[in-house]
Amino acid sequence: MSHSRERMAMHPLATKVREAYIRLHGSEPLLVRSPGRINLIGEHTDYNDGFVMPAGIDREMVFAIGRSKDKTSSLHALKHGQTYEFDIQNPVRVAHPVWANYMLGVLHQYKEKGLKMDALHCVVDGDVPTGAGLSSSAALECGFAFGVDHLHQFKLPRLEMVHTAQWSEHQYVGVMCGIMDQFASMMSMADKAFMLDCRSLEYHYFPLDLKDYTLVLCDTMVKHSLASSGYNTRRQECEEGVRILQSYYSDVKSLRDATLSQIEQHRSELGDVVYRRCRYVVEENARVHEAANHLAKGDLIAFGQRMYESHRGLSQMYEVSCDELDYMFELAQKHPDVIGARMMGGGFGGCTINLVQRSGIDDFISTLQASYRRKFGVDMGHYIVKLVNGTSVIDN
Ligand code: GLA
Repeated sequence: MSHSRERMAMHPLATKVREAYIRLHGSEPLLVRSPGRINLIGEHTDYNDGFVMPAGIDREMVFAIGRSKDKTSSLHALKHGQTYEFDIQNPVRVAHPVWANYMLGVLHQYKEKGLKMDALHCVVDGDVPTGAGLSSSAALECGFAFGVDHLHQFKLPRLEMVHTAQWSEHQYVGVMCGIMDQFASMMSMADKAFMLDCRSLEYHYFPLDLKDYTLVLCDTMVKHSLASSGYNTRRQECEEGVRILQSYYSDVKSLRDATLSQIEQHRSELGDVVYRRCRYVVEENARVHEAANHLAKGDLIAFGQRMYESHRGLSQMYEVSCDELDYMFELAQKHPDVIGARMMGGGFGGCTINLVQRSGIDDFISTLQASYRRKFGVDMGHYIVKLVNGTSVIDN
């Protein structure tokens, strides 16, 4: 697949990281970008071998990378004004600064693969809000993996870098995430969303034709940290469900294989919590397929209905929502220009994704803003996003 290279002139963040790199290290760096993502539908299905429908967005992490003149390597995060110095032969996990771990895990994996790396410097910045469910972490891992690969001309396949990034999230960050975010950051295409089978990793892009509607993200400003939230617990609960179902149905290797009638039949043995988790996942997978059909037919009203159902499932059955997300969801549902809405990403905070009639966007945003402020005393964030290409070099 081809990802067009981007021009630096179009990219204010690239200019910023380049200038900072030159100031700090006195040479011209390689520039790389990697996007955050949205997910239209298919939440918490990826680590259950199910289906997701993400797209890369014009909120990105941008990297300036180059070889070091001595043996010292460093990572510098412009946003935090922090530098972490280390030995590239020994990229261990650190207590501080935590953001460095997303990148150090990538280096550790490359080292394990036997790739010979030179000491390097990296300056990074980005406009993907953190903890907002837009996968700033995957963008950080994927962009760095790609940059280090490109610098050394390892020419690793994109999919291998996706797995490297996911490994880093598991082992260096501690979130047992699925593959959606890293896949989306690395593989997205401009103006398209894609459907990914998280078992076979088959995927296909489709143009996202929303007619008179636009996707608006509303940010609760509740910052989730998936590492300390119930994310890993949800994964364990699903595995517990599979363990029980498997003792009756040997072909159930993951919840992707389970049916509603199997889950109903073993409801009492699963127990209330695991039952609800399993049921949500099976229903959500079915919704992704229905949603794909609706989109193919251009039936946005029906698509929006699946978004509403997804939210209710995430909130009531899977319990990864929170009061703020539920409130934003309710406000959206009541708004006359909205035809679909749901919480997006890992949950416990972050954003809702809303399908809003274009002419009503201003009213939608101001109505939600005012009500949200009244209720929680907080100004919500909002983003209208463009769909962009996956990780790429930025031409100077
Ligand atoms: C986070 C994880 C993903 C996925 C979503 C929920 O973003 O990183 O792998 O599980 O939550 O759909």
